[in-house]
Amino acid sequence: MEQSRKISNAVIRRLPRYYRYLGDLLAAGITRISSKELSQRMKVTASQIRQDLNNFGGFGQQGYGYNVEYLYGEIGKILKLDKSYKMVVIGAGNIGRAIVNYANFERRGFKTKAIFDINPSLIGKKVNGIDVYSVSDLSEYLTKYPTDIVVIAVPKTCADEVAKTVISCGVKAIWNFANIDIPHPDDVIVENVHLTESLMTLVYKLNKDS
Ligand code: NAI
Repeated sequence: MEQSRKISNAVIRRLPRYYRYLGDLLAAGITRISSKELSQRMKVTASQIRQDLNNFGGFGQQGYGYNVEYLYGEIGKILKLDKSYKMVVIGAGNIGRAIVNYANFERRGFKTKAIFDINPSLIGKKVNGIDVYSVSDLSEYLTKYPTDIVVIAVPKTCADEVAKTVISCGVKAIWNFANIDIPHPDDVIVENVHLTESLMTLVYKLNKDS
């Protein structure tokens, strides 16, 4: 389905959650669900669900509810999960290795093609069957092999520098795990996974009423 109008970031941010719930329903053999039931499971209002899904022409039918498989497929298409992505991971430490070892990413079409590190004891080794190369070869690699997504999993002291190299090679999407905000031009998307900030939010909520 072609999107005819701009969808707000708030809606886009909610789509992966719909996708996850619908995937779980499918796996459980549930083929049809009402917005009311989906809302009870997801703990969001039925009207929010209807509003969100109406952005895409509304896939529900009065009295029938949503066709789970169809909706799952459509949301997958909207999120562009119906194609595969070439990824490169920079930093073969704890986070970098965890990402490369996580089989679900590969299953979902996120294919790690190469890993880069600065540590000579890691260069030439493999993680989950994928070669670790020297970061000094990064520019050459990215110029030669078009890459959709680069994962930054290096210490924050060098993340900026690494990102500059990646951006100068034309990469348009960075998944950043380092705890810094990476400066980037408008045509480059940076999605941050700031675990420490998430933990701080948790702690704030934990102590809110004390
Ligand atoms: P780590 O120290 O285990 O791994 C970092 C890797 O980056 C090392 O293998 C190192 O040799 C490599 N490296 C260093 N400089 C490099 C460069 N210029 N080019 C290429 N590779 C380089 O660190 P870890 O734990 O994997 O963390 C990675 C990033 O994620 C850090 O910025 C850290 O602050 C952040 N982070 C990690 C968390 C965790 O649970 N491990 C939690 C929150 C944030």
